[in-house]
Amino acid sequence: MYTQLEQRGMPEPPVNVSTLRKMKQEGEPIACLTAYDASYAALVDAARTDLVLVGDSLGMVIQGHDTTVPVTVDDIVYHSRAVARGLRRAFLVADMPFMSYTETGQALDNAVRIMQEGGAMMVKLEGGDDQVEIVEHLARHDIPVCAHLGLKPQSVHKIGGFKVQGREPDQAQQMVTSAQRLQDAGADVVLLECVPNEVGKKITAALQVPVIGIGAGPDVDGQILVLYDILDITQGRTPRFVRNFQEEHTSPLEAVKAYVQAVKDRSYPAAEHCFS
Ligand code: KIV
Repeated sequence: MYTQLEQRGMPEPPVNVSTLRKMKQEGEPIACLTAYDASYAALVDAARTDLVLVGDSLGMVIQGHDTTVPVTVDDIVYHSRAVARGLRRAFLVADMPFMSYTETGQALDNAVRIMQEGGAMMVKLEGGDDQVEIVEHLARHDIPVCAHLGLKPQSVHKIGGFKVQGREPDQAQQMVTSAQRLQDAGADVVLLECVPNEVGKKITAALQVPVIGIGAGPDVDGQILVLYDILDITQGRTPRFVRNFQEEHTSPLEAVKAYVQAVKDRSYPAAEHCFS
């Protein structure tokens, strides 16, 4: 019965989609972080991060680009494979990069690569109503999907910068409707980036699936941040929602443990990390 558990040599089962849903139902905040290599993956796992994302933010924090646009499926597969080797308990999600899910067949082929070669347990893609057909197609083939709404960094050149989304009432309502449509299409998780607290709260209340926020306020089911931001490795200006957990701790492991604890006890995000 616990074959998967025994294989990983853990005293408890690894996190899966059912665990994430149960955490939402029971009101236990889900602590999530990005990781891009096996060493940091092992560290965030040891700190009891529930979900690890191989984000296309790797284009910025690993490769040094200004945006996530140059990241390829090969890049994601490479980093996901490394991260998968470092994890024991955490649930592994990997991003589908820019232009890797423009039509159903292509999306399925790339999602299969990311799962089979990269070892991811779920793929994440950016988009609202425009992605319902793709999400439906992936879900029909039992590919677990996280739908990323709000600020969509792959659209940065179309939007004209990294800006808070959903401040206008009609835009906010559209986002709630899109989130519901994506859930109905088969999305297992919704991720909200850079939206006012009220929008995060509304979408979280409207959905049965877990809602993970990054700059989406305190009322979502879980929080995610870019690992290098919380460890203060990122140079230059960081977004408002980032909290530096390294400054009060002597090791990266202690800093990540402090982040997980702050998500669990809801001391992160504080008002200064949120948008209205
Ligand atoms: O690519 C990424 O790291 C992400 C997070 C910012 C959620 O999508």
